[in-house]
Amino acid sequence: MKAIILSAGKGTRFKSEKPKVLHKLLGKPMIFYVKEAVKWIKPEEVIFVVGHKKEDVIKEINCKSCKFAVQEKQLGTGDAVKSSLEYWKDFDGYLLIINGDTPLIKGQTLKDAVNYLNALINYEGRQINDKNYQNKNIAGLVLTAKLDNPYGYGRIIKGKAGVIDKIVEEKDASPLEKQINEVNSGIYLIYAPFLKEALNKLTSNNKQNEYYLTDVIEILKNEGKYFYSFDVGDFTQILGVNDRWELSKAEKILKTQFLYFWAVNGATIHNPDTVWIDFDVSLDKDVEIYQGVSLRGETEVLEGSVIYENCVIINSKIGKNVKIYPNTVIENSVIQDNAEIGPFARIRNNTVIGENCSIGNFVEVKNSQIGSRTNAKHLTYLGDAEIGKNVNIGAGTITCNYDGVNKHKTIIKDGAFIGSDTMLVAPITIGENAYTGSGSVITKDIPDNALAVERAKLKILENYANRKKEKKEKNESC
Ligand code: UD1
Ligand code: CA
Repeated sequence: MKAIILSAGKGTRFKSEKPKVLHKLLGKPMIFYVKEAVKWIKPEEVIFVVGHKKEDVIKEINCKSCKFAVQEKQLGTGDAVKSSLEYWKDFDGYLLIINGDTPLIKGQTLKDAVNYLNALINYEGRQINDKNYQNKNIAGLVLTAKLDNPYGYGRIIKGKAGVIDKIVEEKDASPLEKQINEVNSGIYLIYAPFLKEALNKLTSNNKQNEYYLTDVIEILKNEGKYFYSFDVGDFTQILGVNDRWELSKAEKILKTQFLYFWAVNGATIHNPDTVWIDFDVSLDKDVEIYQGVSLRGETEVLEGSVIYENCVIINSKIGKNVKIYPNTVIENSVIQDNAEIGPFARIRNNTVIGENCSIGNFVEVKNSQIGSRTNAKHLTYLGDAEIGKNVNIGAGTITCNYDGVNKHKTIIKDGAFIGSDTMLVAPITIGENAYTGSGSVITKDIPDNALAVERAKLKILENYANRKKEKKEKNESC
């Protein structure tokens, strides 16, 4: 079997510069999901029909073994398939043809359809891979579903014994035909030699002046070659995505499916409607996700970790038994086992937080490596820093890493104790077990075990308040 994926359309209703099939659901373009589903039937060749902004589409599809057929003008789905003829004109077998805008279709469903077609053919005593099809009358299958609201879809008009007479598009349908709720999914299995003949007979004599692939059904039927329907059951699988609201609805369905998948694999998801999860995220067992959490990109959360309310985690690895408290943002970073982060922390740009660390509220850490059992619990900025283990970073500490031109590094060695409100003017090294006094501006390297204090001498003015009061009273009386 060969597969043809139609992805040349502009997607006018998206009102977008970007081709429709490149719009993303859960971090992956629509066309990605179709490509993945098609893999399930192991086609010997996958052909994409591209057209509008074809370079962008080909780049995003990123498939070396795939073939790309170019449809110069988007004259309709029939014309799109015809544009790919060079890849299958001599092919004696069935083609899977699928619209690129049905991202919810499952691979298993495509496999089931192929098996059903096989069964139909075998029933007549033939095999799907027979070389001699000339006398066969099974032209193929149309995958269908029944919708409560079939508006916008092609309707399946059936004759006797389940044979499809024709497919009528919404715009061409009579009032009676519009009442039919079995619709065309835009997914077909078609015997290639029959299709080749029928494509030549297509006209654009319809409301949209397009060459409809769906007209092939009636053309072949009139020649005694029949299409049957394969009802996919779950109608959500065939939802076509033609505008941004349909994209939102499809994305929501997909997201619920992913959350369900992780839940049955051992993760607890609280209030799943409010949780976001991208395609590439993975969750281990006994992970717990609270409401409002957004897990994006290639994020991995290992066993026993808990992510509390409203955290955003992007392309990051969260180790085992980590606790991420509410409203924390973590990006492109690694949090090692047993660490605790937040609430209201921000970790970004290739930061590594070591095991058992505690990074607290209003702490920002950027491009820094932090050793195990180090704490920075309150109101701190650590940027471009290399911090050892068992270090204590006092509240209000800031690594002054930027001189307006370049970024500089701060090194804090094992066991150091940074007093509250220390300014560490980088480049700088604080030695092992060294101390800095609260409120110090540290501009020189501090040796191991030393204490560095940099403060103006403390003045105490006795009786200051009384003198101030007296002065005020005197001014008011005159
Ligand atoms: C199509 C079907 C309709 C079906 C619906 C299911 C036809 C005539 N109609 O309608 O019966 O119910 O899908 O979702 O086929 N494309 C091209 N080149 C073109 C036109 C379209 O490659 O010239 C591609 C699009 O990129 C898209 C797919 O074909 O991926 C379907 O095209 P679209 O215009 O969305 O068809 P529908 O009107 O949804
Ligand atoms: Ca469509």
